[in-house]
Amino acid sequence: MTKIKKAVIPVAGFGTRFLPVTKAQPKEMLPIVDKPSVQYAVEEAVRAGIKDIILITGYSKRAIEDHFDSNFELECNLKAKKKNQALRTVQKITRLANFIYIRQKKALGNGHAVLCAKSVIGKEPFVVIWPDDLIDSNQNCIQQMIDVFYQYTSPVVGVLKVPKKDVSKYGIIGNKHIRGNVHEVLSIIEKPDLKKAPSQLAILKGYVLTPEIFDILEKLKPGKGGEIWLADAVLKLLKTQSVFACEFKGKVYDVGSKAGWLKANIAYALKHPELKEEIKKFLAKDLKKI
Ligand code: UTP
Repeated sequence: MTKIKKAVIPVAGFGTRFLPVTKAQPKEMLPIVDKPSVQYAVEEAVRAGIKDIILITGYSKRAIEDHFDSNFELECNLKAKKKNQALRTVQKITRLANFIYIRQKKALGNGHAVLCAKSVIGKEPFVVIWPDDLIDSNQNCIQQMIDVFYQYTSPVVGVLKVPKKDVSKYGIIGNKHIRGNVHEVLSIIEKPDLKKAPSQLAILKGYVLTPEIFDILEKLKPGKGGEIWLADAVLKLLKTQSVFACEFKGKVYDVGSKAGWLKANIAYALKHPELKEEIKKFLAKDLKKI
């Protein structure tokens, strides 16, 4: 079977939920403690054996390219000042993977963004990752999705059980449990009322897809908000072939939203060796005095 070596990471959206900070800079570059959210996605993909990272970028997203490129002047400066740890940190980013950039000329939706990768993907299966869905888990979610794909050779969606109060924020699957963390997807309902939700399994983090998705995306009409959604294409796929869901265990943060981003920063700071004591004290004592 063809090994999965490519990941598509769409980063061309406007990030309207995070305005005004996203007016001139990518939301995917907003830090979770000291690393931009897109770097977490790239590192997890690389740990899952991905070699080629295809970033779908757009206007005002140059900072993402610069982040994964080398910065000669900075490196010389760090070398001269013998800041070896910092030097290793910045050089490591550049060496993570092969970075391929495709400009989405117009932000026509996340499905359209994935379609932009068609000619680079060719005939191979590939991963799609949403950098907004940061999952704090002790397992590699991308690796888990790839393992399910290898076992069933069918498209895979990532899902996580969300609290009842959050069901109406996500695409929710109707499922048949197969084994362990694997389900068969029977239906997908976008942002259902709790009463109509077939389960609490929300689609997030990403997909493993095969090139058939491009034929569907090419014919797909714009959906909600006039955008071309990848979820709508996957819904169509479901009519012709089996789609499986890989259930993650962990805590999800929507770092594309202000509250989710703040929560992720607090949670990750509380795990950071240099910061945890100071932040713990700040939350437990200092904040109470305000
Ligand atoms: P979102 O649906 O969160 O859209 O995109 P958005 O524009 O980034 O954010 P809001 O909702 O306006 O705040 C999910 C992912 O798809 C990318 C985004 O960059 C994000 O990583 N995307 C979205 C594109 O690459 N192109 C698009 O046309 C739309």
